[in-house]
Amino acid sequence: MGPLLVRQARWIARDVLELQLTRPDFGTLPPWEPGAHIDLTLPSGLRRAYSLCGDPADKGTWTIAVHRVPDSRGGSREIHDTALVGRELEVRGPVNRFPLLPAKGYLLLAGGIGITPLLPMARELTTHGLPWRLVLGARDRSRLAYAEDLLEWGGNRVLLVPQDEAGFPDLATEIAAAPPGHAVYACGPTPMLDTVLSLCPTAYTERFAPGDDGTQVTGTETEFEVVLCRSGLRTTVPADRSVLDVVRELLPAVPYSCEEGYCGSCETPVMAGVPDHRDTVLDPSERATATTMMICVSRSASAVLELDL
Ligand code: FES
Repeated sequence: MGPLLVRQARWIARDVLELQLTRPDFGTLPPWEPGAHIDLTLPSGLRRAYSLCGDPADKGTWTIAVHRVPDSRGGSREIHDTALVGRELEVRGPVNRFPLLPAKGYLLLAGGIGITPLLPMARELTTHGLPWRLVLGARDRSRLAYAEDLLEWGGNRVLLVPQDEAGFPDLATEIAAAPPGHAVYACGPTPMLDTVLSLCPTAYTERFAPGDDGTQVTGTETEFEVVLCRSGLRTTVPADRSVLDVVRELLPAVPYSCEEGYCGSCETPVMAGVPDHRDTVLDPSERATATTMMICVSRSASAVLELDL
């Protein structure tokens, strides 16, 4: 994609900063569909993935919104604390791992900043006259990002749930009330998504934080060998390092972003060996037959793993 200019930054809710990005020459940007995300390289070199939350019909602007997380790994802090307007940031994408699939109608469930991929979905469904309902929960009213836009498009199809007044959204009731043939899309914190999936295993979910559902690293790690087939290289992944870490020393351009197994940027085809999948990109039901792996968090269950790198 190349560098994009940060044209505007504005607070849209408490601790939520919206950035608008354009080409430096204000030219046309590639098309995207609701659910897509882009990878930003921040001035410090950190790379992070953010959902596009603007209007796909706006060919000249991409919009993202970033929630400030004080104890994060620094990406959100850097975006909030750095004067970015007028600067150019390296951008990759867009990539869409959370597309809107055909359905009779849609139930959109958002927790906090999880509204970002669902906002353009609501806009698109409104444009196409399709039935939808959206539930947005946040800690309090000041944190309900894009609430005014949603109410403007959706009216009584939108339920805002400030948790200090109303408690947690009643996900079980919402899902039970969805008519047959309606698809459930959810984005938010891991506990919320786990609840959604326990109530509706066919729900489409997108995680923006590392899972704490047992799919992440547990137990004692072991060392293994990795063969990079296309490059003709072989190396050892020590117990205390990731495959991505080790591969980057040999192939600095290898793609990655979140380093926590949720964005899919580092997905790599596996030629031989048995991956130990620990990401949240692959559905648990896909793991046994998956031909790729997220090398930032997944490891090897065999002594040697051969990758298409
Ligand atoms: S870098 Fe995001 S899944 Fe690996």
